[in-house]
Amino acid sequence: MPNLKFIYCFFILVGIVCSTVLLLDACTKESIQSEKTIYFQNDVLPIFQSNCTQAGCHNAKDKAEGYDLTSYESIMASKKSKGIKPGDYKNSSIYESLVTGGPDLMPANPYNPLSDAQITTIALWIKQGALNNSTTTNVDLNNVTYTLSVKPILDTYCKGCHSSSNAGGNISYEDYTNTQVTANNGKLLGSIQQLSTNYKAMPQGGNKLSDNNIAIIQKWISNGSPNN
Ligand code: HEC
Repeated sequence: MPNLKFIYCFFILVGIVCSTVLLLDACTKESIQSEKTIYFQNDVLPIFQSNCTQAGCHNAKDKAEGYDLTSYESIMASKKSKGIKPGDYKNSSIYESLVTGGPDLMPANPYNPLSDAQITTIALWIKQGALNNSTTTNVDLNNVTYTLSVKPILDTYCKGCHSSSNAGGNISYEDYTNTQVTANNGKLLGSIQQLSTNYKAMPQGGNKLSDNNIAIIQKWISNGSPNN
């Protein structure tokens, strides 16, 4: 009965194709649904300020290659040159420069490339319309730890200029041991509080950290800056 076999096969094949299509469709929808909202002021601008605006690079004065990445306005001013195409990160030249191979890769040598997480944040922000949005969150100062509270702030706002390979002022915030140095000598808190001219205001050339972020670091230092 060759005909019947053929018909069986046909239905099985159709079944496989259909369920694959349905599964793929469900997966795509799932990943879009679970995509978190990216906030320019909280998530994106600190990455640019910490990794792209060093002397000679993309700050308001030097504007390397015509790009000033220090504010929303100046970043979006690159729209004409397709630096940012809202909704279309793959064709945004600023995004392309983060993932391209070879000598055009940004941040340029000797600075470290962005992490995958940072690149994804920028891609999602563009995909979500490249808005100038921000959020405030309540923090629980009773549960401040180095790993979950302090390090993410230093990674986002400071590490671009304070890593072991690029240690501004010979200061690195790459790991706990290095971070301890300025946590203990008062410079970390002094530089971010910006209350005294005894300390250079940090992040250099960028916006002051949010009150929440300063409070987190202050609380951790007053706890004795533990390695927790
Ligand atoms: C755009 C680059 C850049 C960013 C971002 C940055 N720094 Fe700095 N920082 C520097 C440079 C360069 C120096 C050395 C400045 C000098 O000696 O004139 C420095 C110096 C310091 C000092 C020494 C200050 C003093 O008075 O001696 C501290 C502490 C510091 N940074 C902490 C931070 C912290 C904390 C952050 C993040 C919240 C941060 N920096 C972000 C570039 C940066």
